[in-house]
Amino acid sequence: RMVIPLFDEDTGLLGDKVVDCFEVSSSEPFLSQSHCLTDISTRGVAMVPKLALDVMSCEVMRVLQLTDSCIVPISYQVPRKGQEFHEDLYPDTVGTTSAMSAEEWWQGGNKQKVSLHPDKRPKLKVPPAKQMPAKKEVTSRGSKESTSSSPLSTPSSSAVPSRSPSSTSGLSSGFLPSPSPSQSAKAIQSLLPTSKFRHIQGAVMHRDTHITNMRGLNLTTPGECDGFCVNRQRVAVPLAISGGQIAIFERSQPGRLPDTSLPTIQNSVNVVDFSWDPFDARRLAVGDDAKIRVWQVPEGGLKETLTEPELILQHTEKIYSIKFHPLASGLLVSSSYDLTVRLWNLESGEQVKLLTGHQDQVFGMAWSPDGKLLATACKDGKVRIYDPRKSTTPVQEGPGPEGPRGARIVWVCEGKYLLVSGFDRSERGLYLYSADSLSSGAIASAQVDVSPSTLIPFYDPDTSVIILTGKGDTRVHIYEIFPEEPYFIECSSFNSPEPHKLQGLAFLPKTECNVRDVEIAVGLMLTKTTIEPVAFRVPRVKKEFFQDDVYTDTAVWWEPILTASGWLSGINGQHKKISLKPKDMTPSEAPKEAPVRKYLPSSVYLEEKTDEQKKEELLSAMVAKLGNMDDPLPQESFEGVDDDEW
Ligand SMILES: *[C@@H]1O[C@H](CO)[C@@H](O)[C@H](O)[C@H]1NC(C)=O
Repeated sequence: RMVIPLFDEDTGLLGDKVVDCFEVSSSEPFLSQSHCLTDISTRGVAMVPKLALDVMSCEVMRVLQLTDSCIVPISYQVPRKGQEFHEDLYPDTVGTTSAMSAEEWWQGGNKQKVSLHPDKRPKLKVPPAKQMPAKKEVTSRGSKESTSSSPLSTPSSSAVPSRSPSSTSGLSSGFLPSPSPSQSAKAIQSLLPTSKFRHIQGAVMHRDTHITNMRGLNLTTPGECDGFCVNRQRVAVPLAISGGQIAIFERSQPGRLPDTSLPTIQNSVNVVDFSWDPFDARRLAVGDDAKIRVWQVPEGGLKETLTEPELILQHTEKIYSIKFHPLASGLLVSSSYDLTVRLWNLESGEQVKLLTGHQDQVFGMAWSPDGKLLATACKDGKVRIYDPRKSTTPVQEGPGPEGPRGARIVWVCEGKYLLVSGFDRSERGLYLYSADSLSSGAIASAQVDVSPSTLIPFYDPDTSVIILTGKGDTRVHIYEIFPEEPYFIECSSFNSPEPHKLQGLAFLPKTECNVRDVEIAVGLMLTKTTIEPVAFRVPRVKKEFFQDDVYTDTAVWWEPILTASGWLSGINGQHKKISLKPKDMTPSEAPKEAPVRKYLPSSVYLEEKTDEQKKEELLSAMVAKLGNMDDPLPQESFEGVDDDEW
């Protein structure tokens, strides 16, 4: 589609189809940008005359966006203190009466400009807009006293685009000119694609479940490493003491750790990346300078320091990262500084495949959910897919995010798409690729924010929700991913409680979710001194019912389907799936029929039941009621949520 430019020569602001606003200047950086994403597709845009602006609110540009059903004013304001006229923002502008005749123009006359100062401007019949519809703030580059003629700067986090109609930068927060915004918001929202996870809430679980007083963690693990790793039973955390030591904490023993030092795994060389065997909660693979060591934690946890690994795989070069196969036991892939990717059979302790084709550092690797393919993201700006049993070179290759900063890759939407979290210069972004045609490049992308650390993704295949955070960040970003437009819908994010910085966030098997609280993911958050579980919950009112729209049957990925040698010989498989519904819960589709009963005469209703049934029903109705009373109804604090979604 063509970009429609609207240029305000007074301020040098250039707005294109409402979504982007650039400042154009004659010196470096020439263009600086701010975004205003509007959720509704645009049919046309026009700029309102300068004289109509609310100069006392530092509005520097107003654009009207035509959509299919409404006209939306979008205001660009420079945040300044106080209600006064800021000369520097408002050079004299073109007036509303003709300044010269055609004759004068032919003779080379210049047009005359008028002041926007409220006291000096020509009197207008139309009063200036009092109630400002949209508060699209443009961050001032300088301080309060800024006298520069550059009112725009690079987008602040508040200017990050969002597709979510309910997020703070979205429509419902005040893009509507109507005096009763909630009404219109609802009307407009019904036209927009939404995510049922948009109000997802992250919550740190009770203190009793925390591990505290951790000391001496290594917080500077390489970009390819997730920082720590977890399984249902235990957590492995690298320590910043010599000898590549790893502390192991049992999840069954939360609480404050003693001040004395604890037994560790002594890898003897610096740890680069490490991972629990998905099928053996006691087996930890550790990549280092030139080896992969496989450690076996004794039943019940470390009682004394381990110095002898179970197995050593001899690599020739330093490791970037390692990944276990999702279906076959004892199959591990590693990437290393020699730009090779190697497959290892832990049953035989041998290297079984050597994949080539990378031109630079391998940032991330991911096995496809069916275990057939391996995708990689590389510093050479390429995304690749290998079919390691068929070829040692990539079967597909295409352009990925460029740049030296790092990236992660994950399969989404039933293995049909690949999502890469990477960078566009300093901006972090998500890029979606069709796994069938990598060569055509990203089919969609979303900018996230500006931060130096790579976003580490966790994808829940049951809900298509992706949860991302970077090491050292405080914010956890959440999106629902779609295989078609709009591709990404941003959901509400989770912020780690002050003053914690997240040093890592790693997720537990789906069976750790409390479905009675509508948890769709449970992770462990690593901070400098603690490990704290965080649950991601979907707010629902009738929580006494099993929310079957949220819980599809889930894959039992913690049980192997094949052996390494079986997979290597060409066998494929699939994880079995289980329902998460506890026996005593009724699916939530039940209440849809329930109201019908209300209108039956009670005699009819009571007759068909035994006394025992009646008693039970009464009791569960009361329990349900009481259960609801504990929770403040979350829909009261959200607007625009469909009633039947609660
Ligand atoms: C942390 O681990 C990395 C990777 O092995 C290593 O380079 C770094 O020196 C370690 N930091 C400390 C403080 O031990």
